[in-house]
Amino acid sequence: MQEKFYLTTAIDYVNGAPHIGHAYEKILADVIIRHKRQLTDNAYMLTGTDEHGIKIQKTAAQKGMTPQELCDENFAKFEQAWKELEISYDQIIRTTDEKHKKVVKQIFKKLYENGDIYKNSYTGLYCAGCETFLNPKDLTQDGLCPVHMKKPEEVKEENYFFRLSKYKEKIADYIKSHPDFIQPSVRVNEILNQLESIEDISVSRTKASVQWGIGVEGDDTQTIYVWIDALSNYITAIGYDIDNPSEQFKNLWPCNVHVIGKDIIKFHSIYWSAILMSLGLDLANSIFAHGWITIDQSKMSKSLGNVIAPHDVLQAFKLEKPDAFRYYMASAALSGKDGNYSDEDFKEKVNADLANNIGNLLNRTLNMLVKYFDGEIKSEFISDKNSKIAVLAENAKKQVIEHFNHFEIAEASNVIVAFADAVNKYVTDNAPWTLAKEGKMIECGQVLYNTLEAMRYIAILIHPYCPNISADILLQLNEDVNFKYDKLTWGNIKEGKITEKDKIKPVFLRLDSEFATDKKKV
Ligand code: ME8
Ligand code: MG
Repeated sequence: MQEKFYLTTAIDYVNGAPHIGHAYEKILADVIIRHKRQLTDNAYMLTGTDEHGIKIQKTAAQKGMTPQELCDENFAKFEQAWKELEISYDQIIRTTDEKHKKVVKQIFKKLYENGDIYKNSYTGLYCAGCETFLNPKDLTQDGLCPVHMKKPEEVKEENYFFRLSKYKEKIADYIKSHPDFIQPSVRVNEILNQLESIEDISVSRTKASVQWGIGVEGDDTQTIYVWIDALSNYITAIGYDIDNPSEQFKNLWPCNVHVIGKDIIKFHSIYWSAILMSLGLDLANSIFAHGWITIDQSKMSKSLGNVIAPHDVLQAFKLEKPDAFRYYMASAALSGKDGNYSDEDFKEKVNADLANNIGNLLNRTLNMLVKYFDGEIKSEFISDKNSKIAVLAENAKKQVIEHFNHFEIAEASNVIVAFADAVNKYVTDNAPWTLAKEGKMIECGQVLYNTLEAMRYIAILIHPYCPNISADILLQLNEDVNFKYDKLTWGNIKEGKITEKDKIKPVFLRLDSEFATDKKKV
């Protein structure tokens, strides 16, 4: 059996519509899963929405809606956005799903029975934006939440508490002995430092203050803390059940990677690890924490009015397919680093890489094949795996796989573009038009063959980022639309006619500046 690969994303709060920060994460995750599907048939991607908690309760109240109505309305927007971006998830979970709610109650009960949950009265500062209690030492000088710049609410309640402190050492040991657990690894020390001062956490709120959530079984005064509810989605979605876990769960768990933003690593590496340990389940192999996306170098915020929806970018540039936007976002930042979106950069990067570097190269080469050889590959043109371009192609493939193994998505795309650069240079250096003029037809044909075979590699390598462009390149080469890596061996293009004049079409058109109109704000 082929090795399985189970990937999850963070589940988004549905108190608003999706913006390009949410899109960034789902694109990264989708690029990873599409790459894994090129290597295995057993790859599974879960995404979803986080629908409970005080934040959603409050937003719904402000809008004069029930929380469920607000969730339904916004869930539909997330679903639509992921469809437009061609996010190829296998499953999308909502935490208001009945099955999820039932299993979260079981999980809470089990933690209680294990002696890991106890009741305690508590006073703390709660930030609804983060859905968490904040430590006074983490606030700004003015006493605000540093992420949301809002004053946290003082909460005095009797709650259930989880014995997080009990797992402190076990988690630290796990992190130290599993170098792949937290990626990129620059974050490891930050987490180990946070672990040192970790205390037990409140895992329920009174029904009086938070009604919108899953009730504690056997105690109708309490609502389960939204993060316990949310994190559990990774196992409830695939059929975890205390007494009778599904076959799918047994096949997919432990998860290979939780793809999340850097702001929520603590919840995943510390809280979630402790819950899994208490339940007696394995921890995920990796948590990949990506950076944050800014707009024109500013933090996206409703108050700044600079929140952009992914749909607006596609619309502003009149893009029918999401490839260019997917490609730009996926390469916007090196692994774990912050990135930026600007209309100018977007246009420049996709024009340079997709239209010029890749698209033009294919177009020019196919046109020469028609001009000099009536669109036909002859057997004398075909090179073997030791030719210079073949070696470069194999090298690019190896590097791409290696980068993906470390969740270096932009790094992998840079390898593909560098390879396309090298192929462009190869064509310029070997000037097939001059060879043709000099009557060196076999040499000319060999250069064209190497270039087209390189284009086939590029098509397959770039598939996770640009699924439509990738398919178009393969069609232009008269190849099957099959993106599996077992097709990635040199010499696949065979002798025979592959194209003719009126079949040659650009795979990606340059974006024009006048397209970038004023985008709607979310
Ligand atoms: O945190 N750039 O939900 P959320 C990049 N429900 N990523 C961003 C971003 C930006 N500007 N803004 C948000 C939650 N994200 C919880 C998660 S998981 C069990 C529960 C990322 O809607 C953010 O880092 O606030 C997170 O990974 C995801 O979008 C959802 O954020
Ligand atoms: Mg958030």
